[in-house]
Amino acid sequence: MLTKARIAVFVSGGGTNLEALLNAQESGQIPHGEIVLVCASNESAYALTRAANHGVPGVAVPKKQMTQETFEAALSEKLEEYRVDVIVLAGFLSILSADFVKQWPDRIINIHPSLIPSFCGKGMYGLKVHEAALARGVKVTGATVHLVNEIPDGGRILLQKAVDILPGDTAEILQRRVMEQAEWVLLPQAAEMLCKQITKN
Ligand code: GAR
Repeated sequence: MLTKARIAVFVSGGGTNLEALLNAQESGQIPHGEIVLVCASNESAYALTRAANHGVPGVAVPKKQMTQETFEAALSEKLEEYRVDVIVLAGFLSILSADFVKQWPDRIINIHPSLIPSFCGKGMYGLKVHEAALARGVKVTGATVHLVNEIPDGGRILLQKAVDILPGDTAEILQRRVMEQAEWVLLPQAAEMLCKQITKN
């Protein structure tokens, strides 16, 4: 029986959600999981520096110059090497194929910076999500953590948290508020929920 689920965090950029996960782990908030690997889809992702600062192995699997098949084969090889049980997509902006996702049923979670089903789907990532929310004039947005069992945003929702939109918000200001009030809180909670579930079985 597993005592701790082994977590790989997939990232593409700054890695503030990764930082939240690492801090949560260090302060004992993910007792049923352990972050054993950080995989970045590009070599220059600052998230790799964050991983190194916390003593967690980080690898770049650069999507550029690779076909989808070789990219996913390279990811799978790393996941096997590190005996990973759970994948957390934390600002991972490369698309994973349905074939890849099928190999990890109920084992992949993703954070998205809106209240799904609003402002999600193709082309909706990062600042674009907040720009779309402001353009539509919604007064409340938030973040969602969901299982990834279907591409692109399919899978049961695990956690959501609402965040107010305030007069004068820019996409950057709103992005920061959604991260602080919702994303950095929800993602460690959802990771622990899933790891706890897995280690029970
Ligand atoms: C986060 O806001 C995350 O929710 C978003 O990218 C940002 C990554 O920031 N993900 C998506 O838009 C996925 N569709 P980070 O690298 O600082 O964690």
